[in-house]
Amino acid sequence: MNAQELLLQRQSTPKLIAPAPSESDLTFILNAGMRVPDHGALSPWLFTVVENQGLDKLSQIFEKAAIDQGNNDVKIKKSKNMPYRAPLIIIISTQYQFHEKVPKLEQAIAAGCAVHAMQMAAFSLGYGAMWRTGDFSYNTDVKQALAINTENDIVGFLYIGTAENKLPLKALKTFEHHVNYLENFPLS
Ligand SMILES: Cc1cc2nc3c(=O)[nH]c(=O)nc-3n(C[C@H](O)[C@H](O)[C@H](O)COP(=O)(O)O)c2cc1C
Repeated sequence: MNAQELLLQRQSTPKLIAPAPSESDLTFILNAGMRVPDHGALSPWLFTVVENQGLDKLSQIFEKAAIDQGNNDVKIKKSKNMPYRAPLIIIISTQYQFHEKVPKLEQAIAAGCAVHAMQMAAFSLGYGAMWRTGDFSYNTDVKQALAINTENDIVGFLYIGTAENKLPLKALKTFEHHVNYLENFPLS
């Protein structure tokens, strides 16, 4: 797959199974995450890799959070099973730093770029991936259990694995209604 195909063909894969990326593939994916635009060179992100027993730990964290939220048994079971939707998850959170010229928003955007870059990297290696957030991204207890300072934000749970089924390529969305050309505007 060349870079142009990657850019126009990336899509998400909701159903992921083993094998997970090998160690060297994971290294490539993490390096891609480090390669993103980064105002002030702050690297304002943290990647928490979840695989093997880590998946069981995340399952326990989600289960406890679901219980503490007062959910019913169905939702608790669903929450407990969520980490098993892929053999590998990378949790991307911010590591905000004070910088006069780099507001938190820009740092969160850079962390979001890292999620995208890692999904692209996984895709380029032939894996599937899906960026998810949901309630638990914003849950203080979940952050604490993951050793993420509660002043930071979880910007994504990137689920990565092998596609259970080869999905057809989705049609490309057209850009026409999302682009303005300033040269066509009258000056007031
Ligand atoms: C910040 C962010 C959070 C997301 N959270 C979820 C989520 O929790 N659940 C979900 O089904 N899709 C979520 N998505 C959307 C999917 O990752 C995916 O982009 C969407 O299903 C469209 O599919 P595509 O990537 O193949 O175009 C999220 C996307 C972003 C950018």
